Amino acid sequence: MSDLVVRPRRLRFHPKLRDLVAEARLDSRCLVMPHFVLERDRAVEEIEAMPGIRREGIERLLATVEADLRLGIHSVLLFGVPDETAPKHRDGRSAYAGDALIPRAVAALKQRFGEELVVITDVCLCAYTDTGHCGVVEGGRVVNDASLPHLAKMAVAHAAAGADVVAPSDMMDGRVLAIREALDAEGLVDTPIMSYSCKYASGYYGPFREAAHSAPQFGDRRSYQMDARNRREALLEAQLDVEEGADILMVKPGLAYLDVLRDLKENFPQPVAVYNVSGEYAMVKAAAQRGWIDERTVTLENLHAFRRAGADMIITYHARQVLAEGWL
Ligand code: PBG
Ligand code: ZN
Repeated sequence: MSDLVVRPRRLRFHPKLRDLVAEARLDSRCLVMPHFVLERDRAVEEIEAMPGIRREGIERLLATVEADLRLGIHSVLLFGVPDETAPKHRDGRSAYAGDALIPRAVAALKQRFGEELVVITDVCLCAYTDTGHCGVVEGGRVVNDASLPHLAKMAVAHAAAGADVVAPSDMMDGRVLAIREALDAEGLVDTPIMSYSCKYASGYYGPFREAAHSAPQFGDRRSYQMDARNRREALLEAQLDVEEGADILMVKPGLAYLDVLRDLKENFPQPVAVYNVSGEYAMVKAAAQRGWIDERTVTLENLHAFRRAGADMIITYHARQVLAEGWL
């Protein structure tokens, strides 16, 4: 007779029993699909380093979102990709002035899909500034306080157009408060802020910068995004955002920062989002295309890792494929 009483393998033999005892679960309600929106209504452009993801004009976007809704994707995150010929300014004012792209896209989506769809908008200046930086540059430096009013105006333009959530990703200090005050001053008191609280300066954003034409013209983003070596600093960033009125906290990128995700989950009652970024997606796609990894296995492994680490919601380019192929 064996003296092994505790045998963890007992629960691993039967696949449905494994499902029954599984700790982390994925479902379509926690997935957010990102979209890159073009100025020309019917335009569609492939993004080389992100197979399966396209930039689309508003008319195409409506059709794509409609098909995604049928798959069960009820949340989207929008990024504007202004025409390369359109003028960019030092303060990124084309993000909100006049008949701006993202407010138009938001209005079209909300008009068509109403309460079926949660429309989240990325609030950042980098696709609209002439420098490609996320804030205003003065004397070769990205200045903090002078950037805040422009971010606030952008957030107000999105919320006024009907955005359900605004998501600042610039990493300027005090931007959540500036946005909250600006929204409230316009009577938009019920629009939540999902803050990219812990956004690290990362090599994993490479494909995105190609997709959104938002690469900085000089230098890098290390004077405002977090240093990859820091963990405690993430708690400071999250704490400040909570004090300034953030409703949802985010960690970005995801895979290399699961410890930070867990920290936020354990230390704050606010919902926590993770952004499974472009480079993480590209790595899976590239290796799968070569037959070096199994795409389904690795994708689900990554998404479950986010849930296991504590993510309440996952922003991921994999969302459509996961549902379309019935992987859940
Ligand atoms: C812009 C922004 C970036 C991403 C989201 N918002 C790029 C950056 O900070 O350079 C990255 C998303 C991704 O890589 O999927 N502030
Ligand atoms: Zn930016």
